[in-house]
Amino acid sequence: MASTRRPIIAGNWKMYKTTQEAAAFTKALWEKIQPHAGASLPEIVICPPYTALTTVKTSSADLKAPFITAAQNMESRDNGAYTGEVSPLMLLDLGIRWVVIGHSERRQYFNETDESVAQKTGAALKHGMTPIVCVGEALQDRENGLTDRVIEQQVRAVLTQITAAALPKIVIAYEPVWAIGTGKVCDATEANRVCALIRHFISEYGNAEQTRILYGGSVKPDNTHALMSQSDIDGGLVGGASLEADSFFGIIEQACLVKA
Ligand code: 13P
Repeated sequence: MASTRRPIIAGNWKMYKTTQEAAAFTKALWEKIQPHAGASLPEIVICPPYTALTTVKTSSADLKAPFITAAQNMESRDNGAYTGEVSPLMLLDLGIRWVVIGHSERRQYFNETDESVAQKTGAALKHGMTPIVCVGEALQDRENGLTDRVIEQQVRAVLTQITAAALPKIVIAYEPVWAIGTGKVCDATEANRVCALIRHFISEYGNAEQTRILYGGSVKPDNTHALMSQSDIDGGLVGGASLEADSFFGIIEQACLVKA
């Protein structure tokens, strides 16, 4: 039976694009999607750097494009002496209600821990925001047979900070670190196995049927169909291929073919 979970295709731009480039992308993407706007589209999420959040949000509104704008990170505290940080209140002030949390690049280069990821997730939910929480094993974990254990630890850390009622509101992205930016996509059945495992861990806390679980790591138009055909993969978190309107649209188009 097909799931009732609405698919999500999210583009994480990472540290790319000026405001001008962001506005041009938003317009170009909408020009491609608009002719299909009557069809049931996935939720389309664009995650620009902080500096282009308002550009993407206002450009989308001006175009009447139903794009969701998401931040790539945020601080868990509301305010304080934390130089350089951006709080949930500040994102809400810009009208931003979605946020990526715990991306592996944040864990790897900016010392994010399971604990800080859990705190940020709790903060997002407290403020009525939708967190896209990233989990994923490193190559060494996979080679050592530790994938399931690492994923369990990362997912359970987040679950300690949230209530069962919040489960339909969180989005989890399974991003195996070895598949990010490498062109080595995880085999679709294996990605599905891990996404199903994540759903199983969540189900121990409450109803996991509405929680959307995405796959991320070298998602491209030509592998989207196989990934999106899987039972427990509800969408994609896309890096490199989200930087060009053509390839991001190609992914959205493939997702529509499978899950529409
Ligand atoms: P790539 O699609 O470039 O592998 O990046 C994935 C990613 O990190 C999305 O958050």
